[in-house]
Amino acid sequence: MFLRLAVALLVLCCLGQRPHAQPAPALPESAQAVGWKTAREAVAIERRIDALIARMTLPEKVGQLVLTGRGDGFDIRRIRDGLIGGVMNFVVPREVREVQEAVRASRLKIPLIIGLDAVHGFSTYFPLPLGQAATFNPALIEEAAYWTGREASAAGVNWTFAPMVDMSRDPRWGRGLEGAGEDPYYASVVAAARTRGYQRGGVAATVKHFVGYGAAEAGRDYNSTWIPTSQLHDLHLPPFRAAFEAGSMTAMAAFNALNGMPATAHRGMLTELLRDRWKFKGFVVSDFGSITELRLHGIAADDAEAARKALLAGIDMDMMSEVYHKHLAREVAAGRVPMAALNEAVRRVLRVKFHLGLFGRPDVDVAAAPALMQTQAARDVALKAAQESVILLRNAGDILPIRDSVRSVAVIGAMAVPEDERVWTDPAGLGRRVVQPLPDALRERLPTGATVRYQPAFTKACGTEFSDKAAAIDAAAASDMIVAMLGEDCEFMGEGASRTQLGLPGVQQELLEALVATGKPVVLVLATGRPLVLTWASEKVAAIVQTFHGGTEGRTAIADVLTGKVNPSGRTPMSFPRSVGQIPVYYNQLPTGRPQQIRQRYESIFMDEANDALYPFGFGLSYSRFSYANARVARGSVAVNGTIEVMVDVANTGTRDGQEVAQLYIRQPVASRSRPLRELKAFEKVLLRAGETKTLLFRLDAAQLGAHDDEGRYSVDAGLVEIWLGGSSRADLKTQVMLTKS
Ligand code: NOJ
Repeated sequence: MFLRLAVALLVLCCLGQRPHAQPAPALPESAQAVGWKTAREAVAIERRIDALIARMTLPEKVGQLVLTGRGDGFDIRRIRDGLIGGVMNFVVPREVREVQEAVRASRLKIPLIIGLDAVHGFSTYFPLPLGQAATFNPALIEEAAYWTGREASAAGVNWTFAPMVDMSRDPRWGRGLEGAGEDPYYASVVAAARTRGYQRGGVAATVKHFVGYGAAEAGRDYNSTWIPTSQLHDLHLPPFRAAFEAGSMTAMAAFNALNGMPATAHRGMLTELLRDRWKFKGFVVSDFGSITELRLHGIAADDAEAARKALLAGIDMDMMSEVYHKHLAREVAAGRVPMAALNEAVRRVLRVKFHLGLFGRPDVDVAAAPALMQTQAARDVALKAAQESVILLRNAGDILPIRDSVRSVAVIGAMAVPEDERVWTDPAGLGRRVVQPLPDALRERLPTGATVRYQPAFTKACGTEFSDKAAAIDAAAASDMIVAMLGEDCEFMGEGASRTQLGLPGVQQELLEALVATGKPVVLVLATGRPLVLTWASEKVAAIVQTFHGGTEGRTAIADVLTGKVNPSGRTPMSFPRSVGQIPVYYNQLPTGRPQQIRQRYESIFMDEANDALYPFGFGLSYSRFSYANARVARGSVAVNGTIEVMVDVANTGTRDGQEVAQLYIRQPVASRSRPLRELKAFEKVLLRAGETKTLLFRLDAAQLGAHDDEGRYSVDAGLVEIWLGGSSRADLKTQVMLTKS
C-alpha cells in the first residue's frame, strides 16, 4: 500500500499533475498491472503447463497457436471447439465477453489472449508515438502507455501490439510515426518506458517488428533490408533488448526479409539470438498474414511448407494466415514438424497466459468499462504529452508567443478542427473523443477583444482539395497574423504509406505560398507523421511549429504553445532533411576519409545540397534561452568497466521558465573500428526557472560505450573519448575522458 502511494506521488510529482478531487473508479481485475511473475511462481506455472499439455489433443495444441480476428469470417464456434488461442481487434466489452464465454464452453477452457493495436491510445488519444518521442520525457511516455493499456484492459483487451521499436532513419518510410526515431540509445529508453507503461496498465506488450523493418530499402514499406551484423547489433537490436529487459512478454516478427531471409522464417534471429542467447521466455507472433507470405518471398512452395518453416524458425503464433490451423497438425502427424517443437511453441503461449494471470480471471466487467475511459487523469497526461511533443523549429524575430499587440489571428486549414483525428481503434462508444478545435482554444487564450478568424480552405482536414481558397486568403489578409495548420494527406501516413516526395500535398503548398504572399507573418503549424522537407518554408515563414498529430488534447496543446501558456520543449527525434536526395540523413554517421572541409569536389559532399540536416536530431527552440558552461569530468581517466561522471552547468538566460533537454554525446576518435562522429549516451529534461542555473551530473557506464564487430562481438576500446554537451546533436561544449584497460 505504502509502495503504491509512493509510486503515485512520484508519478504526480514528476509529471507535474494536480491531484484529482474525484475518487478514481475501482479497477476491475482485467485492468491490473501484468508482467512476469517471480521465479518461484514460474516453477509452479511450468508444472501446470506440463499437466495441461499432457491433456491436450493435437488440434487443441495447434489451436493455441492460432490468432484470428473480429470481422468477416470470424466463427465463434472455433473457440468453443478449442481451436483458437487468441483473438484480435475486439474493442467492445460486450463482444469480448461473448468470446470469453465461448471459452468456458470449450473442453479445456484455456483463456484467450485478446490482442489489439492499442498504440497511442484506446479511448483517450495521446500524440503519435513519434510525437511522444519528441517529448524526451520517458516518465511521461510511460504514463501515456499506461493509460493506453489501462483503458484497453478495462475493455477486456489483455495484449497490445506495441511498442514498435523499429529504428527509422528514412522519413520516406511512413511507419516511422509508430517508433521513436533515429537514435538507438534514445529509442531504447523509450522502448523500455512504453513496455513498462503498457504492462502496468494491464496489457502484455509486443515488442515489434523483429527485426530490421525500419531499414526497408528506399523507405518502401515491406521492402528487403540489408543490414551488416555490426549495425544490426549497434543500431537495430538495442531497443528490442531494452524492451525485453523491461519485461515485454511477447514479440512480433517483421514482414521484411533481413539479408535475404524473411524475418518470419529467420531461425538465426528468432531462436538462436532471441531464445538461446537472450533467454526470452515469452512467445513470438507473426505479423498479419506473414506466414503465408513466405510463399511470395520465394522460400516456400505452399502454405504447408510456410507453416513448417515458420514454426521451426521460432514463430509460435500465426496472426491471421490460418496456415497453422490448416497445415500444422498434418505436418506434425507426418513427422515433418517434431511434436517437441509444437509442444514448445504451445508452452510459450500458455506461459504468457499464466503469467498474465488469465486463468481464473473473471470476464471483462462490461458495466465498469465506460467509467474507466477518458478519465480526467488520462486527459491530463494526454494534454501534458501533447504540450511537450510540440517542437518549435523556427521562430524568426521571436514572433511567438503571440504578442498582446496582435489584435487578430487568421487560423487557416481544416486540420485546425479535429474531426479527422488519426486513431487506430474505434473505442466503440466507450468514450467521447472530445478534442478542442484550435480556433476555439486560441480564442480562449488570447486577450479579450482579439479576433480569431477561422477558414478551413480545404474540404477535409488532411486537405487534398480546396473548398474556398479565396475566403482563406481574405481572412488572412485581414488579420495581423496567420496561423496555418497544414499537414500530410492522412492517406499518406503510417503503415503502407511510403513517399518519394516529402513536401506538403500540392494544394497545401499552394495555399501556403498564397498566405506568405499576403505579406502577413505566417506561423506554420504542421501535423505530420514524419519529418517533411521544410526547406522552402524555413526561408519564407516566420515560425514553424512541428506537431505529430497530438491526439485528444492536441489542438489545445498547440494553442497553449502559440500563446505562451506553455513554453515549448519538444525536440526532434529524427533529422529533418533538406531534400529527399540526402536521405538517409542522420546525425550519428561514421566519419569518411574525405570529410567536408572547404566544400569542394572530392570531399564527401553533394554538389547541389548541404550535407547536414535542416533541423538536426535533438533540436528544438524554446521561448527561453539556455547556455552551457563548465563541462567537466570527475576523473580524467576511467577503466573500461568503470563509471564516467560528467558535469555541466546549464543556465536559463531567458525571461521565462522553461524545460531544456540537456544532451550528452560521445565520440571515440581512435578505436579498433570507425566509430560514429557523435552518439547520444545520456540526456535529461530539466526545468529551469528564468535566470536559474543548475549543475547536471551524468553517470556513464563505460561498458556501454563500445560497439559490435562483423561477427556480432561486442567490445569497448581503451582510448580517448570526446564528450559534447548541449541542447541538440550539434552541441559544442566539450570535455573528454581517457578510457583505460581494466
Ligand atoms: C500489421 C502491422 O505491421 C502490425 O504492426 C500490426 O500489429 C498488425 N498489422 C495487426 O494490426
